[in-house]
Amino acid sequence: MQGSIGQSGSVFRNSGAGIVPSAEIANVQKNIFESVMQKPTVFKDRNAISPHFTPSTLPFREKQISDVSQILGIALQGKKPDNLFVYGKVGTGKTCTVKFVLQQCESFSLQNNGSAETTYVNCRTHNSKYKVLLSALRKFFPDQNFMGFGSSFVLEKLLEYCRQNKRHIIIALDEIDQVKDLDELVYSLTRANDELHECSISIVGISNNVLFKDRLDSRTKSALCGQEMVFPPYNAKELRQILLERLPLAFKESVVDEAAVNLASAIAARESGDARTAVMLLLRAGELAEKNNSSKITDLDIIKARKQVEEEIIFSMISTLPIDEQLVLFAVSSLSKDKKGTKRITGIDENVLFSGDVYDEYVRIASSLKENVVSARWYREYISQLEMHGLIITTQSGKGIRGSTRLIKLAYDSEKIFDAMKKEIFK
Ligand SMILES: Nc1ncnc2c1ncn2[C@@H]1O[C@H](COP(=O)(O)OP(=O)(O)O)[C@@H](O)[C@H]1O
Ligand SMILES: [Mg+2]
Repeated sequence: MQGSIGQSGSVFRNSGAGIVPSAEIANVQKNIFESVMQKPTVFKDRNAISPHFTPSTLPFREKQISDVSQILGIALQGKKPDNLFVYGKVGTGKTCTVKFVLQQCESFSLQNNGSAETTYVNCRTHNSKYKVLLSALRKFFPDQNFMGFGSSFVLEKLLEYCRQNKRHIIIALDEIDQVKDLDELVYSLTRANDELHECSISIVGISNNVLFKDRLDSRTKSALCGQEMVFPPYNAKELRQILLERLPLAFKESVVDEAAVNLASAIAARESGDARTAVMLLLRAGELAEKNNSSKITDLDIIKARKQVEEEIIFSMISTLPIDEQLVLFAVSSLSKDKKGTKRITGIDENVLFSGDVYDEYVRIASSLKENVVSARWYREYISQLEMHGLIITTQSGKGIRGSTRLIKLAYDSEKIFDAMKKEIFK
């Protein structure tokens, strides 16, 4: 018997040579965290290789930094900057570039008694007009909680801050396409300027969704897109340089093989030109090396990390899709999973679906969830979006298969996508 509770209620261990009091057990037994804490690590600062890290230098974004600062710098001159809309694929450095310029603008303003002030809102978490306004306001009233107050009160509080402090406020709305009632939000914020003198509110909208702008209500579009910028993908050489600059911050010296950096940048460039993928490949490879008690990160670790990173990226992409696109993708994955593709008719390819069948399934799912059912025209638009994100592949069928129709195939494992979609939709 290792330990028992004696009648007195204290813990004893029968060591064979007698009874040892519990206090001594604590000294003899190692704390379970000791081995965890003593395990050698390849990381110097794990956070510095996380996709949420904002580095202090952003190579290959000098022009974008300069362009954004030209536009927003107007606030430092005591005037209202144009609204700005920044878009481009995931991992092209939009978030870190805008955050960097906002920080610079604010610190310059503070040091020079300027009138510019900024606030950053992640609309993935704050996805309605009300939540955005509350989040934006928290920056200016850090000690007050306006939760529960009406939307117009919260907006008025923002304007009051602006007026009383004579501020030119820049609100960055990251992943702006996630805001459900975006038209109302943009309208309220832009209209507010009519009542402001010697102060103003400007919006910087950021979106990964390249076609999103085209879907905006025309009034919202003209209000929001005063100035526009597109961030291009990075090539392999650029990604390699970005990773090389990150290594000394994130990893201990000489831990990462050059071959690992080369492979990570080549994979990320080939897939999407996305710095987030490149950074995550190194992060996960580092974790794998550590798990295997290895003090080196090699290209083999990158190869092993690739699948995990790919899955993480797909799932995070799925979670940022608008609900209508999620429902269409759910319909595709549901039919593919049940193998209701054209194989039974054509025998050509497994799990290739007819566009019409997917639409019917989408209508069925959306109706059962009491979601708005979009027309076939919008449905086709969503199919194009999903293809652009690389989640599905479409081809036009040859004549003879129901006339000529679009055939749809899921780009990833249907069970995995189906499960991820189910979690996302029914969360
Ligand atoms: N030019 C760059 N230099 C250094 N790191 C970068 C650069 N561009 C992106 N990154 C890194 O890539 C990751 C994703 O960047 P992010 O700004 O979030 O992209 P986006 O908002 O376009 O999806 C972050 O870890 C960021 O630090
Ligand atoms: Mg971003």
